[in-house]
Amino acid sequence: MAQQQRILVTGANKGIGFATVQTILEGGDNRFVFLGSRSKQRGEAAVENLLDDHPEFEGRVQLLQLDVADDASVEAAAGQVAGQFDEDAPLYGVVNNAGIGLGSADMQKVLDVNTRGPKRVCDAFLPLIDPDGGRVVNVASASGPNFVNRCSEQRQRLLTSPEVTWEQIEELMEEAVAIETEGGDFEEAGLGDGSPYGLSKACLNAYTIALARENPNLVINACTPGFIETDLTRPMAESRGVDPEEMGMKPPREGTRSIRFLLFDEPGGTGWYFGSDAERSPLDRYRSPGDPPYRGDDE
Ligand SMILES: NC(=O)c1ccc[n+]([C@@H]2O[C@H](COP(=O)([O-])OP(=O)(O)OC[C@H]3O[C@@H](n4cnc5c(N)ncnc54)[C@H](OP(=O)(O)O)[C@@H]3O)[C@@H](O)[C@H]2O)c1
Repeated sequence: MAQQQRILVTGANKGIGFATVQTILEGGDNRFVFLGSRSKQRGEAAVENLLDDHPEFEGRVQLLQLDVADDASVEAAAGQVAGQFDEDAPLYGVVNNAGIGLGSADMQKVLDVNTRGPKRVCDAFLPLIDPDGGRVVNVASASGPNFVNRCSEQRQRLLTSPEVTWEQIEELMEEAVAIETEGGDFEEAGLGDGSPYGLSKACLNAYTIALARENPNLVINACTPGFIETDLTRPMAESRGVDPEEMGMKPPREGTRSIRFLLFDEPGGTGWYFGSDAERSPLDRYRSPGDPPYRGDDE
């Protein structure tokens, strides 16, 4: 059998994360997935459901309890993976999928999961990834580019800069939290509508640039899954009294296309952001799936 490809998916007990685990495992007998879940109980139920529907996955999926907002939890999870496989590189890839806060006003909490979460996970798990071509996929959102689009030129330059650093991203996030706490004006600060979710995903895209630059031997990219019906988005349809499908939401499986492309195919670059059609997208404006791909800075 070909060498086992082991992949961690965070926030995988439901939604797009769960569908990602399932579609990864369907893709080959040599694939093994750590199903990340902050709740042991919800994670166990997810593994059980998956194995009920797919008994053939037995032995290839394992719950990994992991709260991306908690340093100790992330470190313990990395320790468990490192201890379990007596090899130099126990992991082929990591999918930073866990996310919260569409419509939330709690800036600190949303940034702590959606942006600092992937940073925590990468700090702990990158040493376990295959140093020669291992993959990281950060699940961002079209809310990122849409947010950047409404920012001042100076903010746009930072959030799209090839030289952006984590320290600069952290500084920006702290500034945004202070504006929220003090009841300041986001627009005046060049931060558009100050959407915590949009900012968190714009910062995640910027972090993807920095991480890829610092790890040139890995393939590190971000993507949006598209508009997918999950517990995150369903309230949008409910509040309007319409069917999620009528609003254009697609089933979770369809939200895994770009994620799997960035894990297993040749994305043609690293530190990039992709649309749900698995084509490259710009960081500062929305590109509809099916529209021509973004070709880089000289566009
Ligand atoms: N659905 C869309 O249309 C859409 C569009 C663009 C981007 N996205 C992104 O896609 C990703 C998945 O979202 P989804 O739509 O599948 O939402 P979802 O169904 O609400 O799933 C979110 C997952 O993240 C987990 N999670 C939340 N906080 C966590 C933490 N601190 N540590 C670990 N796991 C945590 C949740 O676990 P619990 O069950 O314990 O809460 C759940 O498993 C998110 O990053 C989201 O921003 C979704």
